[in-house]
Amino acid sequence: MRSHSIAVLPGDGVGPEVTGAALEVLDAAQEAFGFTTERTDVPLGADHYLQTGELLTAEMVTRLREHDAILFGAIGSPRVPPGVLERGVILALRGAMQQAINLRPVRLYPGVPTPIAGLTPQRCDLVIVRENTEGAYVAQGSAVHRDTPAWTAVQESVNTWYAVERAVDFAYRLASVRRGRLTLCHKTNVLVEAGALWSAVVEEVGTRYPDVETDYVHVDAMCMHLPVSPERFDVVVTDNLFGDIVTDLGAVLQGGLGVAASGNLNLGSQAPSMFEPIHGSAPDIAGRGWANPAGACLSLAMMLGDLGEGEAAAAVESATAHVLADLPALAGEGMGASTAELGSRIATAVGEGSAPAVEGSLMSQLAQVMSA
Ligand code: IPM
Ligand code: MG
Repeated sequence: MRSHSIAVLPGDGVGPEVTGAALEVLDAAQEAFGFTTERTDVPLGADHYLQTGELLTAEMVTRLREHDAILFGAIGSPRVPPGVLERGVILALRGAMQQAINLRPVRLYPGVPTPIAGLTPQRCDLVIVRENTEGAYVAQGSAVHRDTPAWTAVQESVNTWYAVERAVDFAYRLASVRRGRLTLCHKTNVLVEAGALWSAVVEEVGTRYPDVETDYVHVDAMCMHLPVSPERFDVVVTDNLFGDIVTDLGAVLQGGLGVAASGNLNLGSQAPSMFEPIHGSAPDIAGRGWANPAGACLSLAMMLGDLGEGEAAAAVESATAHVLADLPALAGEGMGASTAELGSRIATAVGEGSAPAVEGSLMSQLAQVMSA
């Protein structure tokens, strides 16, 4: 029987709640599609840090590398100063595992309430490919005269041809199995040096994909076009910081942070990819069962696609979309069911194969590109 080894990092706040739901769905998928997983719990997060002072260590990196995939919940806690866990765990993992891109689908499933008036599922089906290893996220920055009126801070952005090219190439490959359209999102009119490099990469890589149509949108304009006319986008490729920002906006279109999923992909097979819902640890609602597990379940679906379990991936996507469509509202108390109940409903739908197949399953497109 096929077996996959998975490191599970539930993390903080609602992380363990949504991860628990996703694992129940994984159990059902294994049973239905005939594979097994070996799971190792990794205790990274606020508790572990406060008890041991440990963030991601070299030894953990070595152990994590032995797994086929990492399933991540959420990290961050008001008990730890901002940035410590985010940089020391999430960003450290993305870098250590060379997860070259962060794949963030923006798809509105039928029946899911969106705050954007008049938006329909047909008009909202795009994928944002966010460069995941550099940009403003890796420049260390420096400061002088801190805590005086002359406080001066410098924070630059790193852009290498190597990392930009691998992200852009992935985006083109994805566009070529989708609707054949790639949009570069940047700010080339102001960030002229980084912008020139990104544009040159797109121009060069684009010649290898003559069937994909390429265009360009400034990041500020993107924030206007996305909610108003998302149908003009198929695959959007962008840098780390712009990608962070526009994917929160993308999450709103598809029904909120609770339903948005992501995959941090290592594009070779040297280290595992990592799959996480876009939302954070939401300490304000932790422990109440109010967190929507859909983002975690759709991230699980992406993980299954990456592991070569394309049918299971599509089934988890369909089941999640089906259960989401039944919810009266998707936020806080009004969700209509607890995190665990929703997880069970999705698991049942996977087990029974009762959810109608999602048309043009993103998960199967991703599986094609990721296994290529
Ligand atoms: C995300 C998050 C992270 C990021 C934080 C938690 C470091 O906002 O995954 O989008 O900025 O990448
Ligand atoms: Mg973010």
